[in-house]
Amino acid sequence: MRVLAVFGTRPEAIKMCPLVLEMKKHKEIDCKVCLTGQHREMLRQVMEAFRIQEDYNLDIMQERQTLTTITISILEKMNIVLLEAKPDIVLVHGDTTTSFAAALAAFYQQISVGHVEAGLRTGNIYSPFPEEMNRLLTGRIATYHFAPTKRNGENLVKENVKKNIFITGNTVIDAFKITVKNDYKFSNPVLQELDYAKNRVILVTAHRRENLGEPLEQICRALKRLTKRYPDIKIVYPVHLNPTVRETVYRILHNNSQVELLEPLDVLDMHNLIARSFMVMTDSGGLQEEAPSFGKPVLVMRTETERPEAVEAGTVKITGVKEEDIFNVASGLLSNLEKYSQMAKAVNPYGDGHASEKIVKIILKSKANKK
Ligand code: UD1
Ligand code: UDP
Repeated sequence: MRVLAVFGTRPEAIKMCPLVLEMKKHKEIDCKVCLTGQHREMLRQVMEAFRIQEDYNLDIMQERQTLTTITISILEKMNIVLLEAKPDIVLVHGDTTTSFAAALAAFYQQISVGHVEAGLRTGNIYSPFPEEMNRLLTGRIATYHFAPTKRNGENLVKENVKKNIFITGNTVIDAFKITVKNDYKFSNPVLQELDYAKNRVILVTAHRRENLGEPLEQICRALKRLTKRYPDIKIVYPVHLNPTVRETVYRILHNNSQVELLEPLDVLDMHNLIARSFMVMTDSGGLQEEAPSFGKPVLVMRTETERPEAVEAGTVKITGVKEEDIFNVASGLLSNLEKYSQMAKAVNPYGDGHASEKIVKIILKSKANKK
């Protein structure tokens, strides 16, 4: 059975690599990897961490790329790869423009699509933008829907998806088996030097398209205020390579002895940093799934989330994107130990770390059914 896994950005790679490694254990599966290269350096970091070599790389990234150019380049270049690789099934992940464009390219050649991390929804097509629409459209195209949670599966049923919905858990939990170690030594010297007992380390990431501009300004101003109020905190912020993000973040937060602005961390450093941090403040999707497993409170600097499971479990809070609100919610946790402890409990609504195995079994069964 020929399977082509297609991905192109950092988070997709982190969640698809465990699945690729699992597929490679099965000799019945001829698994090939096609990178769209929507990301470049940030994608390479992940491939190196998981020691996977791609078979194809569309290498489409351009500085300050637009949604239109990403989509067009992938559609054109995928066409050629699909003709050569002739996969029985194309696997895409989540909600990026890579996911949608690769699924559409496969559909144009009448190749079945399996959607990994299917069924997440906010119900608002502009938040997150364009991810909500990307996952809706990818879901329409897909034949197989690998939903991390029961709720994700129910979202698909509500949209009239009638078959092939499988609740598998999220492959990001599988990734921890490869990335997280108790005696881990950071490769980033700043992380190696930090005193995690003396300083309360707050891990921050923010990059979403809908937060660019004023919301990101407010996020950075809130962080600055937190450093003034709490002299023992250390904010560690690995900054996304998007030049628009970097311009705002460096302008407001550089030259602050309580803020470490770092280059993107490799996923090994990143996962082990989550494990040692006091809490996480982010607009990322992936971190909302990862940090609860480590018992770290997560403040989500967005107006809504497609991952309500951990909010309901009490470890994730939505702060919105206003300086005052972010500052107040974070202050609540920094100054009230009881509040902090209530949130700092390990919960994992996203699976048992065997999602990849489940997905591979389903793929193999789909082939058996076709015979
Ligand atoms: C993309 C995804 C988003 C995901 C995010 C993860 C879309 C539309 N967006 O957003 O869903 O949450 O990835 O990080 O699919 N850049 C580099 N090197 C890199 C990566 C990015 O220089 O390795 C710069 C480039 O200038 C690029 C810009 O960042 O043009 C933006 O990258 P892009 O993939 O368009 O958007 P993201 O915000 O990364
Ligand atoms: N991540 C990483 N290095 C960083 C920042 C994030 O390895 O410097 C990881 C993080 O642990 C998570 C994923 O990247 O697994 C999230 O990716 P990103 O924030 O780019 O996208 P999102 O989750 O918002 O789609």
